Amino acid sequence: MAKSSFQRMGSSIHVPSVQALAASIANPADVPPRFVRPEAKADPVASDGESELPVIDFSRLLHHRFSREESAKLHHACADWGFFQLINHGVPDQAMEKMKADIAEFFKLPLEEKKAFAQLPNSLEGYGQAFVVSDDQELDWADMLYLITRPLQSRNIDLWPAQPFTFRDSLSCYSMELKSVAGTLLEVMAKNLGVAPEEFSTIFQDQPQGVRINYYPPCPRADEVLGLSPHTDGSGLTLLLQVNDVEGLHIRKGGNWFPVKPLPGALIANIGDIIEILSNGVYKSIEHRAIINAKEERLSIATFHGPREDSVIGPLEIVKGYKPKYVSMSYKEFMKAYFSTKLEGRRLMESLKL
Ligand code: OGA
Ligand code: NI
Repeated sequence: MAKSSFQRMGSSIHVPSVQALAASIANPADVPPRFVRPEAKADPVASDGESELPVIDFSRLLHHRFSREESAKLHHACADWGFFQLINHGVPDQAMEKMKADIAEFFKLPLEEKKAFAQLPNSLEGYGQAFVVSDDQELDWADMLYLITRPLQSRNIDLWPAQPFTFRDSLSCYSMELKSVAGTLLEVMAKNLGVAPEEFSTIFQDQPQGVRINYYPPCPRADEVLGLSPHTDGSGLTLLLQVNDVEGLHIRKGGNWFPVKPLPGALIANIGDIIEILSNGVYKSIEHRAIINAKEERLSIATFHGPREDSVIGPLEIVKGYKPKYVSMSYKEFMKAYFSTKLEGRRLMESLKL
């Protein structure tokens, strides 16, 4: 089976399931010190109504092969926020509900059964954790299941849960639906940026895609731990679906953390590092994090759409006449850099600036 570069970049350090740890904790003092993160409450969190995440209506975008008004709205959302809610995206309710139900079922399985799909040494794919690069590093309060879904020949089906028995089918179906939404968004973005359509379609050919399913257990010291450290996504475009009703995604806006409240049925979209670089910084890959709830578990599915493996990533031709603001490098080199350190906000992106 074809091996994707993700395969070789995982850490060999494996940490025990946080879900199992959380279940064993009787009182707050039992939370191991490696999970206690003073930075979790260091920056202010914006209160309700301070500002609103842009909402993009996908059906309007498609209307008349891209409504000019909605495309302009999308352009501003990508340039000013780097994040938006996508409504009327056309992904059938059934595809989303099946995926959500199967994910919830998977995480309910006994640890030993989940471990049958555990990450292999030096791989990121499977059930486990990512970005753990040393034995004394602080840890995030979460487990994940990361699977490569596209291109089809890169799938490692052995790592796709066989329980619940509908899981593989639900994921295939979800992957296909999201690929099509992402493809359209990328097409409109290319148009908005003035990029020749074939330039974008070559980079995103076959629409490589990976799915990261996040499981955030409740924690009695919720405001002192982090579910997912501040980071930017190494993808081109991410589409996030919150699986249950528990909120926890925060995005960096000014010096504040801004809590995202997903609209019913919406996908939360964000620009990843690759599109920030390709667009020479016109579109922004915004730092975000996930926080933990004291009483309830939280689940989410982040679907990353990236460039093809052999692409070179650097500011595109549109910036001719402007000064390129980022170094160009092979996507493989970028991924190596992305996965070889712990998550640290925009540190990597800042280091790639010229
Ligand atoms: C991610 C991510 C946020 C969330 O998986 O990259 O940012 O709300 N997830 O789970
Ligand atoms: Ni993310």
